[in-house]
Formats: sequence, C-alpha cells, structure tokens
Amino acid sequence: MVRIATVVGARPQFIKAAPLSRELKGTAEEYIIHTGQHYDHGMDGVFFSELDIPRPYVNLGIGSESHGVQTARMLEGIEKVVCDLRPDLILVYGDTNSTLAGALVGAKRTIPVAHVEAGLRSFDRTMPEEVNRVVTDHVSSLLFCPTNTAKHNLSQEGIEDGVHVTGDIMVDALEMFLPVARDTSSILASLDIAPKDYMLATVHRAGNTDSISNLKAIFEALTSCDNVVLPCHPRTERILKEHRMWDTVSSSITLIPPVGYLDMLVLEENARLILTDSGGMQKEAYILGVPCITMRDTTEWTETIDDGWNVLVGSDMNAIRDAVRMFKPTTKRSNVFGDGNTSKKISDIIVHEYGG
Ligand code: UD1
Ligand code: UDP
Repeated sequence: MVRIATVVGARPQFIKAAPLSRELKGTAEEYIIHTGQHYDHGMDGVFFSELDIPRPYVNLGIGSESHGVQTARMLEGIEKVVCDLRPDLILVYGDTNSTLAGALVGAKRTIPVAHVEAGLRSFDRTMPEEVNRVVTDHVSSLLFCPTNTAKHNLSQEGIEDGVHVTGDIMVDALEMFLPVARDTSSILASLDIAPKDYMLATVHRAGNTDSISNLKAIFEALTSCDNVVLPCHPRTERILKEHRMWDTVSSSITLIPPVGYLDMLVLEENARLILTDSGGMQKEAYILGVPCITMRDTTEWTETIDDGWNVLVGSDMNAIRDAVRMFKPTTKRSNVFGDGNTSKKISDIIVHEYGG
C-alpha cells in the first residue's frame, strides 16, 4: 500500500484534506502531519471533529511566527517525522507556509511531492502565497490542477510532466458537507438573520490587514452597509484591536468568531452577497450561486470573474460601496471547477503511480 505523509496546517487545508483522506482510506496508508500553523479551536479542532478528518499522526505545534521562523521550524519538524516514516509520497494542499515546508522537505529528501491545487497564479509576487505556489509547483512530481487555466499556467513555466487536471477538491468538500450543514446548522437562527437578508464578509489577507490604510478603507465600506455578518479571522481581530477599531466596527456590523465549515456553508448559501479576500470563498460563492465582491486587486480564480459572478474591487472604499449597490451577475454558471469527483481522480492517479 502506498505510504503517504500529508502535510496540513491551516484552516482551508483541513477542509481540502477531508474528502481526499476519506477517499484514501483503505487504498493508502496516510499519516497526517499537522504543522500547528493554525491552533485555535475555531481555526483547527472544529474542522477535525465536524469533518471527520483522521487524527493527525503528529502535531508539530509550530504556531504563529514570522514567515522565516515559522517556515524554518516547519522544515525541521517535518523532516524529522518524514525520516522516521519513510513515505512514498508527501501530499500538500494549497499555498500556505505549511504547503511550502512540506514541499521543500520532499525536495531535499528526494521524496516525491504531490500538490493539490497546483498551477494557481495571481501573478502578484508580493503575496506570500504566490511565492509558496510557484516554489511548490516547481518541486512537485504530481501536480493536481483544479482547472485548465492552472494547467496552462504550469505549461507557461515549463512544467508539463506529472500534470493532471482533476477538478477542484473544494467542490467535493462542498457537495459532501452541504447536506449535513443544511440539516444541522442553526447559525441563522442564533444570529437572528433571514436568508438573503444579509451580506457575508471575511477579511484576513496580509495585504488587507497589514496595511492600515487598506484595513481602514475596507472597514469604512463594510460599516456603511446594512446587515453585514463577518466571522473574524484572529489575525484581523488582533489588528483591529491594536488599531482601536474593534469597538466601532463591532457596533456597526455583526462581528463573530470564526465559524466551523458547516455553519460557514449555511452562511454562504443564504447570503445576498459575499464580500471577501479569501481564495476558497470566491469559489464557494460561485458554486453556490452567490454574487461575490473580492476585496483584492488580483485573483487566482479568474474563471469566477470571466463568468461574471465575481468582481475585483481592491481595498478601495468607494469601489466596494459601488459594487455592493450595483454588482449583479448576468450570465449562467458552468461547472468549471469540476463535478465533485476530484478526490477519486487524485486517489486513482496516486495509486496508479505509486502502487495500491
Ligand atoms: C494563512 C495563510 C493564508 C491562508 C490563511 C487561511 C500563509 C503565508 N498564509 O494566513 O494563505 O489564506 O492562513 O486562513 O501561510 N492566529 C491566531 N490563531 C490561530 C491562527 C492564527 O491567533 O489559530 C493569528 C496570529 O496572530 C497570527 C496570525 O493570525 O500571527 C496570522 O496567522 P498565520 O497562520 O501566520 O497566517 P494567516 O493570516 O492565518
Ligand atoms: N471558512 C470557515 N469558517 C470561517 C471562514 C472560512 O469554515 O470562519 C472556510 C471557507 O468556507 C473556505 C475556507 O475556510 O472553505 C477558506 O479559508 P480561508 O479564507 O481562511 O483561506 P483561503 O481560502 O483564503 O486560503
């Protein structure tokens, strides 16, 4: 049986790992290495319990540090575990520092790396995630692309071998958990909000939280809108408090702690509009048919823009307000992110390449 060391560490990676870990059960020996990049219960534990993800083999407990220190400690910790485990393959997801560390350990120890969500590009190298994506793709042996655009991006960088267009694993996660979420979540009642009567917002991207002018512009726009619900990333909470903005913001919009994936799916599906700088939420908005306003200048998920369901407004206060008033999707959505069979396709390719 193929022996896989899966490296995860941040919220979106737990969600992406859920359907593939389920698929790999019985066909592969999977050992989850949790870097500990995210550690609060609402950013970590809630996903493992509600999405039925296998308990990590190890949690390195790295936590929050500067990029250099965090990545270096991950490298050291992952390498030790991998030397003991001797996996056939290291599996990484997305574009976080945990992704980069897992991929670099594979490259240095000559263990093949499989990258789920390969080939995404914002073409903005000031984003830490863009550097992580490029480096990870260039050291990966199996590159699972969610879209043809991603495959094209890799081809432009000379990466052709090991590239597979498998669809987007977040479609699998959404299809797997939306029915459960509809049955079990009571988030709308507990916030006393009605379907299509509120806007859902999230903000956590470094470019929006580390720049005080961007942060202020975004929150001035959000606080001028009616009925905004914002599950707040701990990074954003910390910075809003540091700048003494928390009290004013929380008196104008519904600021709540981060929510689990099931509550999030219900909040997204029932929102009138989603305002976000999250990568995953732009796709979820598209899949669920909710118009999305993206508070960034670039996106990796260009299909959502091309199809007219997402609009880029940067962190410009007036552009955000105008989009809230005027943005309306006009075209039909397609199944550009796949049909929800991505985990099966990925698992089959892994087994074919590295043995059952
Ligand atoms: C990371 C990823 C980003 C991803 C996001 C998902 C990198 C470079 N960035 O950003 O691509 O979109 O995760 O949510 O890997 N914090 C807590 N508790 C936690 C986790 C974080 O309080 O459980 C706070 C700390 O103040 C920390 C800050 O959030 O310094 C940033 O955390 P970090 O993991 O470094 O980056 P994210 O902004 O979460
Ligand atoms: N998410 C969640 N609870 C929250 C915020 C986000 O479950 O409070 C989910 C969201 O639905 C999506 C994923 O987390 O599936 C996106 O993660 P995030 O925005 O943190 O990171 P990104 O996708 O930008 O890397």
